[in-house]
Amino acid sequence: MDEINQVTIGIDLGSTSTSIAFDVNGGDESEVQILNNWPAAMKWSYDQVPRGPEIATIVYYDPHATRSFGWTKDRFEVVTERDTLKPGLFAATNFISRLSPPGDYPDEWKSALLPGTKTPEDVTLDYLRHLRLNILQQIVDEGYSGEVARLHFVITVPAFWDTVTRNRFRQLATTAGFVRAESAGQTLSFISGLEAALSQSVYLHAGVPSSPDNILVLDCGGHTVEAAVYTVESSSPLMVERRTPVSVASCGSAEVTRLFMDIAKAKIDKVRVPSTGRAFRVMRVRAKRAFGREVLFNDKFNAVGFHFDIPPEIHADGKADTFWVADLGVELSCPEADMVEGYISFSREKICAPFNTIVERTMGLVRDQIGAVEVLGEQVNDCLLIGGFNKCPYYSGKVEAGMAAPGLRLVKPSDDGANLAMGAAWAAVSGSGPSK
Ligand SMILES: Nc1ncnc2c1ncn2[C@@H]1O[C@H](COP(=O)(O)OP(=O)(O)OP(=O)(O)O)[C@@H](O)[C@H]1O
Ligand SMILES: [Mg+2]
Repeated sequence: MDEINQVTIGIDLGSTSTSIAFDVNGGDESEVQILNNWPAAMKWSYDQVPRGPEIATIVYYDPHATRSFGWTKDRFEVVTERDTLKPGLFAATNFISRLSPPGDYPDEWKSALLPGTKTPEDVTLDYLRHLRLNILQQIVDEGYSGEVARLHFVITVPAFWDTVTRNRFRQLATTAGFVRAESAGQTLSFISGLEAALSQSVYLHAGVPSSPDNILVLDCGGHTVEAAVYTVESSSPLMVERRTPVSVASCGSAEVTRLFMDIAKAKIDKVRVPSTGRAFRVMRVRAKRAFGREVLFNDKFNAVGFHFDIPPEIHADGKADTFWVADLGVELSCPEADMVEGYISFSREKICAPFNTIVERTMGLVRDQIGAVEVLGEQVNDCLLIGGFNKCPYYSGKVEAGMAAPGLRLVKPSDDGANLAMGAAWAAVSGSGPSK
């Protein structure tokens, strides 16, 4: 095997999903590869998200947070035989977006419980420590020596993070071992997710135009949607100029679920069971999981003529506007809650409303960006559309239709789930350096 001098590792650290890509030695022949050999528990979809090479951005703890789980080969550390979360474990999620939330971040997420006395920073640190060790192990397992002269990590961060937030995050990453005082050859840089997307599109020749064109990059993620307009000054090394202030909103896929749950909770509250009891908890959890599995990630949901299967019990009930039914796993009926033997029904309007709200908020960001470029006396011609939320056809169908009105040409690279990690690695390999 050739001598290995430099390994560059791109980390797309999202609030719901993380993916990793790496390159060995760089150069013209450089080929960025994806890491795919994760512990099964980290791939297991606690949140129902269908994942490819990504893992969930999650830390499993015991209730007192004295130990964390999920990074060994034994997936039954966190899962029961029935594929549910093992009793007694706490799944800490959504800690990255809490490090520096956008202005419209819902209070419910801000104050969501973490195990023990952990803060979002503590959980991030635990996650980064596990992630780093696992990455290094996988690279050794791929056949590359652990004795690498230079190791360069490049991590994606939200484009709207300011310098103070980046520096705080650098401290966390340093504590987690990504920068080591004793190893001068180990470096860490950051790249905004939007720039990593541009880098990946250039790497793939995905049709991103270079200067003087203005391109709107729109990242529709799990917790946030971000947008900014860039020009690509040069493709190798990648040089981009951001032309507008970043627009950001808490209107990613998790917000659709949160808005749906407001509707579901209002119904479930009408069922006469104690709100402190197990049945009440089970109903809420099952409604959320069913929505994720059957609606949010259903790739036929917006197809012409599509309709959900309705259980016969509900047909017999004769409600005309029933569109989707969730099985809440309880033997209860309550007409006020539209619930028959544990099946709770929703009209099309109630199911589509959360999506429509989110699409409208996304298009608000697009309009802000178009307006900001017009102030410069220029135009936006293209939109690079990225982020896992676009895999939800109902959402992306409406967003893409919305782009047609201002006449934006859509560039939508095919995404196997690791595009931004590859873009981050490629940006570093091609010498774009740390983004400013
Ligand atoms: N196959 C799929 N079908 C439908 N939706 C999907 C699919 N895969 C991912 N998603 C949605 O995309 C989200 C993840 O997108 P992405 O990886 O861009 O977010 P993130 O980077 O983790 O979050 P953020 O950018 O807010 O930090 C998931 O939470 C899920 O809702
Ligand atoms: Mg993201």
